[in-house]
Amino acid sequence: MPESDTIGIALKMHGVSKRYQGTLAVDRVDFEAYAGEVHVLMGENGAGKSTLMKILAGSFNDYIGSIVIGQKEVLLHSPAKARECGVGMIYQELSVARPISIAENLLVGRLPYRYGFWLDKKAMYRQSQQLLHKVGLDIDPWKTIGEISQHEAQLVEIARILGVNPCILVMDEPTSALSRREVQCLFARMRQLKNRGITILYISHHLPEVFEIADRITIMRDGRIVATKSIHEVTPPMLVQMMVGKTLEKPVVSPTRKIGEPVLKVKHLTRNGFFSNVSFHACKGEILGIAGLTGAGRTDIARSLCGLAPYDRGTVELEGQRLRRQSYSDAIKHGLMYLSEDRKIDGLFLRLSIKQNLISATLQRNTHCGLYTANHEAQITSDLIEKLGIVASSVSQEVSNLSGGNQQKVLLGKWIAADPRVLILDEPTRGVDVKARVTIHRVVRDLVEEGRTVLLISSDLPELVGLSDRVIVLHNGRLAGEMNKTQLSEESVLLAMNGEVV
Ligand SMILES: Nc1ncnc2c1ncn2[C@@H]1O[C@H](COP(=O)(O)OP(=O)(O)OP(=O)(O)O)[C@@H](O)[C@H]1O
Ligand SMILES: [Mg+2]
Repeated sequence: MPESDTIGIALKMHGVSKRYQGTLAVDRVDFEAYAGEVHVLMGENGAGKSTLMKILAGSFNDYIGSIVIGQKEVLLHSPAKARECGVGMIYQELSVARPISIAENLLVGRLPYRYGFWLDKKAMYRQSQQLLHKVGLDIDPWKTIGEISQHEAQLVEIARILGVNPCILVMDEPTSALSRREVQCLFARMRQLKNRGITILYISHHLPEVFEIADRITIMRDGRIVATKSIHEVTPPMLVQMMVGKTLEKPVVSPTRKIGEPVLKVKHLTRNGFFSNVSFHACKGEILGIAGLTGAGRTDIARSLCGLAPYDRGTVELEGQRLRRQSYSDAIKHGLMYLSEDRKIDGLFLRLSIKQNLISATLQRNTHCGLYTANHEAQITSDLIEKLGIVASSVSQEVSNLSGGNQQKVLLGKWIAADPRVLILDEPTRGVDVKARVTIHRVVRDLVEEGRTVLLISSDLPELVGLSDRVIVLHNGRLAGEMNKTQLSEESVLLAMNGEVV
């Protein structure tokens, strides 16, 4: 993109609509973005943000309306066409392939060949390094994606898209899986890109982040654009009001609960290479927060606790009974359940309906002498849909057709339906809007009110500190601190997460 072309309108959408069978997801949208700006899109789950951006990325050949990129009216009916018109998109879920090398991921579709058949590995290496350099990554392009961190994988994805010289870069919730430090690195890269005149369209639910990075912001509601504002014209309460259409109820601070006896006891748990000698307990009616940077071992421990991954030494006891190592079904039978941070990999059955997903974890409990009793299914399903505010056309809608935030709510509903004694929640509000966040927090409080135990893994510090009764902190796979309610603050947790003694 030429340096001189940094002012002016990069994108103009006029009267754009997109309908999925029954749902009008984007409704006569007029939208403009400038060259060299970070333009944030916000709105409740299901507002139509991802759909609007997918239109730009050429995902649909049946949208209505006109799109002008630069000076030219374009028809974005295929991903290839969108790329050709300068649109690059980073999706809500990463699309780089894990088992293959960074170089192959970067150059997919345009690998350098000599004489038409001989793969030029030297050129591949050189071109990959140049691309990685653009995003400030200094890693070996022959490594596979599986060998690098989530954050690095994301930068590889950005590098890949930069390889086709986009003038518009779309990012759909790119930071939801990143630590604070990684978010800062990503923002630094984004600022460089925008200084080169690239338009960045950025979807986020995270208000502090939005105020840090946005130049302008557009709010969507029910498929329509509510307002576009310069970031200096708005405040967080104004944004929330525009998104939700009313002011949010303040989260009620529940009276101090009675916390009971220890239910879950973990002793000297060690998984070589992952975490070492971790001991802690959690009580009936307690929310135990687990803090740590990405890579500190939070998810690894959770997975080992509930039998999804092995461990080498130590014990896990639930109500006095020792759980079998690496047996997920044993953990579930005893009421220890895990809401995964990655709903796509081990959380949801994407091809099944909302109802089938919601009841999927209750099958074991409702099966007596080999017979499945389906008595309460309909009731459970409708209760959960209401309680969690799941927005869908019907209970039989396929989960893959839900917006990201609504998928997350279905996942939480599935584990609530299974009647857990101890529920491990791994990033439960990732990708959900402000309103759903309040709902999920209330649901978590209800769970412990009922005498259950919640282990809360969250990178969202206000959430972790606000909800937890007690927090344990992990650093490099070891326990680095523990704080009770009176000692808890965002600062103290942040320090301990970074290995400072508190
Ligand atoms: N493939 C699909 N088939 C049918 N309906 C869909 C499909 N994808 C999205 N929808 C519906 O279109 C509407 C807009 O969804 P979209 O994914 O654009 O929302 P979003 O604003 O990105 O939400 P989130 O913040 O939860 O990611 C929702 O009502 C959703 O259920
Ligand atoms: Mg979305």
